Amino acid sequence: MIENSFWNNLAQPIIGLAPMDGVTDAVFRAITARHGRPDISFTEFTPVDRIVRGHDPEFSDLRYSEIERPVIAQVFGTDPDSFYRVAHLIGELGFDGIDINMGCPSKTISGAGAGAGLIRTPERAREILRRTREGIRDWAAGQEIDQIGLPPSVAEDIRRAKTRWFGHDVGDTMKTSRQPIPVSLKTRLGYDRIVIDDWIPALLSEAPAAITLHGRTLAQRYRGDADWDAIARAAEIARDSGTLILGNGDIRSTATAVRRIRETGVNGVLIGRAAMGNPWIFKACDSIRSAVRTGEAPLAPSVSTAEKLAVALEHAELFDRTRGERSFRIVRKFLSSYCRGFENASELRQRLIRVDTLQELEAILQPVVCA
Ligand SMILES: Cc1cc2nc3c(=O)[nH]c(=O)nc-3n(C[C@H](O)[C@H](O)[C@H](O)COP(=O)(O)O)c2cc1C
Repeated sequence: MIENSFWNNLAQPIIGLAPMDGVTDAVFRAITARHGRPDISFTEFTPVDRIVRGHDPEFSDLRYSEIERPVIAQVFGTDPDSFYRVAHLIGELGFDGIDINMGCPSKTISGAGAGAGLIRTPERAREILRRTREGIRDWAAGQEIDQIGLPPSVAEDIRRAKTRWFGHDVGDTMKTSRQPIPVSLKTRLGYDRIVIDDWIPALLSEAPAAITLHGRTLAQRYRGDADWDAIARAAEIARDSGTLILGNGDIRSTATAVRRIRETGVNGVLIGRAAMGNPWIFKACDSIRSAVRTGEAPLAPSVSTAEKLAVALEHAELFDRTRGERSFRIVRKFLSSYCRGFENASELRQRLIRVDTLQELEAILQPVVCA
């Protein structure tokens, strides 16, 4: 049975922010939520082994803020028992859902049998889904996290992380009761060829709440175009199963989102790369939904140069506050993604990718933003 979950309460088609490791961190997602408001967000993928061994006591990869809700933790790995344990932690950290990565094409990850490597071992993929659900079920039934073989420090680590993330609001915002949360997954069309006629039914037999399908095989990585005909076939296979299908790949505009949804009958889409430097694409979620019904053109949010650069600055300020000055250089890649579509954008980009401190950035951007 599929859990009674937030997925069922979302307006369809669902327009969500795709997980992107090294990109959609807590700061990126908070900025996107403030200026665009996607229907759902996912954390970057996090290895279950690292979590269960207590290697990241600050749970830094899993940090999130309330504005992102519903927010789903994405995890990856190969050991079903680790997923069972991680499910308890994800529940305890207050996430709205848990998503299993079965699509990562990286050699290290897929070669070890995780990510898209699981497409080759559907039985293991099914066991992982089962054990994750069992973990959620037992956690919701009251099983304590120190009863399942996790390092004794984990319970305290979670309490500390939650306090740091939510500050004085913890008491008001954290869930007071343990409600089961839904399990979903994100995958690809196949390993070196399209296998959705076998792969999707295998996944559906475990009744995940949702499957996100990136329309490429592992072998393709990011080459070629996403195959939306194959995504349409997957949506057809899943129809009436109770599992939602979200399509993903190469959606660069609100008009493309509408076209893909109408052509394929998916329950929603995730947008990844087109959201970089462009949180405003999610301002059009309602307009996309209405355009899917009427066939009319959706809103294509237009943003002034001053607003783009003001948000670039806000992004850098939040990054600096959250990650600290020493990590500031990481923000350069985000800054450059805001420098698109206006006069002298590439010139400005060249300057922004060299900034070392927030003060330097402010000196460049404040005159433009306040002009
Ligand atoms: C830099 C980068 C990191 C990614 N990291 C993840 C990840 O952590 N988990 C995941 O499921 N997919 C990840 N993906 C895949 C995206 O979620 C998405 O499937 C892909 O980018 C295609 O969608 P798009 O064309 O809208 O970007 C990543 C993609 C990129 C470009």
